[in-house]
Amino acid sequence: MRDLSGRAVNGKPRLLVTGVTGLLGSALVREGPAGHEVCGWARQPDAAPLPCRVEAVDLLNEAAVHRAVEAVSPDIVVHSAALTSVDQCESAPSMATAVNVGGTKCLLKALHGHACRFVFVSTDSVFDGTRGDYTEDDSPTPLHVYGRTKLAAEHAVLADRRDALVTRTAFYGWNVLPKESLGEWILSRLRGGESVSGFTDLLFSPLLADQLARLIYGLVGTGAAGVLHVASADGCSKFEFASRLAATFGFPPGRVMPSTCEMGRLAAPRPRNVTLNSGRAAALLGRSLPSIEEGLREFLKLEPVVKRTSLAGVRGPGGGR
Ligand SMILES: NC(=O)c1ccc[n+]([C@@H]2O[C@H](COP(=O)([O-])OP(=O)(O)OC[C@H]3O[C@@H](n4cnc5c(N)ncnc54)[C@H](OP(=O)(O)O)[C@@H]3O)[C@@H](O)[C@H]2O)c1
Repeated sequence: MRDLSGRAVNGKPRLLVTGVTGLLGSALVREGPAGHEVCGWARQPDAAPLPCRVEAVDLLNEAAVHRAVEAVSPDIVVHSAALTSVDQCESAPSMATAVNVGGTKCLLKALHGHACRFVFVSTDSVFDGTRGDYTEDDSPTPLHVYGRTKLAAEHAVLADRRDALVTRTAFYGWNVLPKESLGEWILSRLRGGESVSGFTDLLFSPLLADQLARLIYGLVGTGAAGVLHVASADGCSKFEFASRLAATFGFPPGRVMPSTCEMGRLAAPRPRNVTLNSGRAAALLGRSLPSIEEGLREFLKLEPVVKRTSLAGVRGPGGGR
């Protein structure tokens, strides 16, 4: 049989997704390629309502990672697990380094001798945000601990596996666990009758997690390797994003207030403009990447699909990305 990337494999191709209970991990399962057996890992997988096998694997436990790799023997790995809260990483840099860099190295080591395709999910936060519209040729200079750990992990991945794909991105979407991503946080405040403030001085180019999952699989299918920017075709401020999200879900204008990053008193400094230029990925795929508008329309349609299978209640606010 052949896997997603066209390689001949023994039996049904096996796809391993780390961080499977996370926002992107669960979308990677939802959008999983036809004909592949999907296995997911997370630290605490018990509560996740996911239509795949989910194993409890802590990336900080080298022996467990080795055992679990041998048990799955994956043909494709999408490494999505990370400590993702920018402010938590800032206040616990050793833990951020251990999980984001050490955990990635541990996984890479366990995969030695396995001829699989490896995808690492990185971030727009590797850039300092002074310019925006970043291409893969621009030099990353992260402002905060989270960005530095993700960049160090990128280097570890590309040093270890020359055919690895590193996707730098930004996204929002629906969680399967009771916690809130940026889009969910905005919506739950609006639905609770509150107003929401959005930063006018932070610009990004977010995809819906499900769109990103499909794009990642599409890029694996092209045999792409190295660093690729995979983000929405256009960019906007967080204020504009929140306003457009509110309009998409039928809220009247005026429920989203403009504010600035300084007013937010965040623990970690935020890069101002991390919009990504995804022209290279678009050329490989032979089509332009989705616009923010397209993402928001799918976000609206997807809610009943995801929330039907999710748990009630909310774990806490988003990570302040
Ligand atoms: N969200 C964004 O806007 C964004 C933007 C750019 C890039 N990214 C990158 O995209 C990836 C996915 O982000 P996300 O927002 O979907 O993440 P998320 O929702 O915060 O989920 C993180 C996942 O990583 C797992 N994890 C954390 N520590 C672990 C450990 N020690 N061992 C094993 N698993 C561990 C978590 O499992 P437990 O819950 O069981 O701990 C969870 O499944 C990350 O690599 C992130 O850096 C995110």
